[in-house]
Amino acid sequence: MNVQQAYNSWAENYDTVINKTRDVEGKALRKILSEIDFKTVLEIGCGTGKNTEWLLGRAKKLIGVDFSSEMLERAKEKIKNKKAELIQADITKPWNFAKGEFDLVTCCLILEHIENIDFVFEQANSVLKSGGYFYVGELHPFKQFQGSKAKFETGSGIFELDCFVHQVSDFFQASKVNGFSCVELKEWFDEGDQTSTPRILTMLFRKN
Ligand SMILES: C[S@@+](CC[C@H](N)C(=O)[O-])C[C@H]1O[C@@H](n2cnc3c(N)ncnc32)[C@H](O)[C@@H]1O
Repeated sequence: MNVQQAYNSWAENYDTVINKTRDVEGKALRKILSEIDFKTVLEIGCGTGKNTEWLLGRAKKLIGVDFSSEMLERAKEKIKNKKAELIQADITKPWNFAKGEFDLVTCCLILEHIENIDFVFEQANSVLKSGGYFYVGELHPFKQFQGSKAKFETGSGIFELDCFVHQVSDFFQASKVNGFSCVELKEWFDEGDQTSTPRILTMLFRKN
């Protein structure tokens, strides 16, 4: 099963199974992005729309993109808002959804499935307005080194998805060579316990 097929299978219970990574990232995004203003949003890998409704509460226009038809279907069931457009596309191909018109691009729990993050930063830069923000919220690489990865229960056992590890310095370097400055970097812990391994890494970049 490739990543796209896996998310098509996972979609049915993605929102309902216990998933600390999904939930901690959702809290982190709300905290970080409540501190900035944006009207237009491109949500990369929107999935079932975990963050979409919250983003729509603050935006005038949102485009959500995902390559899983089943994840998108769940998002469409939830989101009946004329300000939102949900598009099926593969983000490893050029982003022809829109050019140079977004205040904010968000990427949540998707880059672990993308080998070449440099391309993603390049495309994010091309669709953002000058001074626009690029928010990234990912499973922390420390957690990945402890064996955590995207996985779900199937009828015949646990299925683990193909994942890549990106170091914190990989994100920083990809941002730097693609015209961004990192304006915030935070680590998020289970139950706020800072003596444990951080679960989520968030970075807020700004287009130079
Ligand atoms: C773990 S889910 C995260 C969904 C949502 N952002 C969230 O935080 O709940 C990862 C999503 O990325 C999507 N995805 C993975 N690779 C992709 C690609 N190359 N192009 C578009 N979407 C992709 C999957 O279909 C899935 O919906």
